[in-house]
Amino acid sequence: MDQYTNWGFTQNPFQPSPLVSSESGSRLFAGRVEELNTASRSLYRQGKITCVEGAYGLGKTSLVNVAAYRAFKKYLSKDSQQLLIPARESFQLHAGLTSEDFRLKVYLSVAQTLIERAGEVRDMSFSMENSDALNAWLNDPLLAHVEGGFNIAGWGLKLGKPPVANDSAGFEREGFINVVQSWLQNIFPSYGSGGVVCVIDNLEILESASAARKTLEALRDTLFNQQGLRWVFCGASGILTGVTASARLQDYLLPLVELKPLAADDLGDVLEARINEYVPAGKEFYLPLGTTQLKNLYWVVNYNLRGLLSQADAYCEWIVGLGDQKRPVSEEDKDSMFDNWLQATTKRNYDKARTQVEKDAWEILDVTFGSALKGSFTAANFSYIKSNSFLTISQETIAKHVSKLVTQGYLSASFDEDTIGSGKKIATRYDVTTKACLAHYGRYLSKETHAIEPAIWESGGRLLRGNAE
Ligand SMILES: Nc1ncnc2c1ncn2[C@@H]1O[C@H](COP(=O)(O)OP(=O)(O)OP(=O)(O)O)[C@@H](O)[C@H]1O
Ligand SMILES: [Mg+2]
Repeated sequence: MDQYTNWGFTQNPFQPSPLVSSESGSRLFAGRVEELNTASRSLYRQGKITCVEGAYGLGKTSLVNVAAYRAFKKYLSKDSQQLLIPARESFQLHAGLTSEDFRLKVYLSVAQTLIERAGEVRDMSFSMENSDALNAWLNDPLLAHVEGGFNIAGWGLKLGKPPVANDSAGFEREGFINVVQSWLQNIFPSYGSGGVVCVIDNLEILESASAARKTLEALRDTLFNQQGLRWVFCGASGILTGVTASARLQDYLLPLVELKPLAADDLGDVLEARINEYVPAGKEFYLPLGTTQLKNLYWVVNYNLRGLLSQADAYCEWIVGLGDQKRPVSEEDKDSMFDNWLQATTKRNYDKARTQVEKDAWEILDVTFGSALKGSFTAANFSYIKSNSFLTISQETIAKHVSKLVTQGYLSASFDEDTIGSGKKIATRYDVTTKACLAHYGRYLSKETHAIEPAIWESGGRLLRGNAE
């Protein structure tokens, strides 16, 4: 039995996976009222693609999943005319994936979505006699046929095969896609009647905006124009800004929904929703930390939700290791226990990082964690880094250290191409990672930071990203 079961939970409340398109995902969603509204409104725009951008681990995927699910529910409760059905999974593009393979993947998933969600709708026991789209969907002869044992996985096995004209796999592909397309046209007889919401997530995997742009442009006519599909593009800082510059896509793309960090004041709601979801009604539960400690940790991990949850989990595990007698019960004990852990864990992180990161690179991080840069910078800031440190190295050497920090996982980078079409990628922005935050806080506690400007940690409650509250 894991600690959370012992503490009264049915599952780990700090699981760092994204919220999914389901009742549970929707209940766990906290804060972000405005961004959710904007994203939802975008989903309803026929023939247009919703774009969501934000730093890693902030909650992009969760926002999109929950927006799509709530739109689905709105149709079922007759609060909307458009039927939007969240796809069962999100899609990723990566170098080497052909557009043909990607198309097949999408239609496989769409077919499976229509099958699975139909089951869900039936389980909800809605009576929707007047709904044409719902009738078309739930009473489609194909659905009745495939629900009984159509082997979608069998099609999936053919995914790896290169499409060869006229071979049997190629024929099956097109045949299958045609069937799904006509099914979609049946359920969604016009562009305005809705669609299956398909998300292309983590566009930053393509590494440069030009690569992302080219790949997406190639899919425009075959996928993004398909009646019965609604599209969402989702990516980390920078990549979508580059994609929106595409002349071929421009008219299809809605203005970016830019995600800021969840407000620290919403953390109470995040925790409460997880307790409500994972503690059976009326049952007792225990946690060694509350909102106060979560807020403190949130600050240390630079307002990164994923980092927060995984570190909260690490703290809980540490408490278990101490033994039942030592677990903190009073608010005061929780506070001091948490402080002990935070000091020990960040110092341990620092000790480990120390052996990897070179002395000059640490000084670059010291300036990055100062009150001016607040954890993010661009190549234009290299001269600032030089003049606000005691470093006597050239900007080129700073650049070398910076790329090593990216490779080592202390900085994350967003990329763009240097000149249109050259295909060469250049980093446009660097952000400190959770790993860097934990190590640097340990360095600060060890009083080893070395820069002209004091570390951001000096100023207590001051925000690194500055815009979380
Ligand atoms: N509004 C929210 N309320 C409660 N929890 C949330 C919310 N948004 C995100 N989370 C939680 O935060 C974590 C990170 O969310 P998510 O995976 O959606 O972020 P992301 O921006 O898509 O990350 P990445 O850039 O790595 O893809 C997840 O564990 C998720 O459950
Ligand atoms: Mg994501």
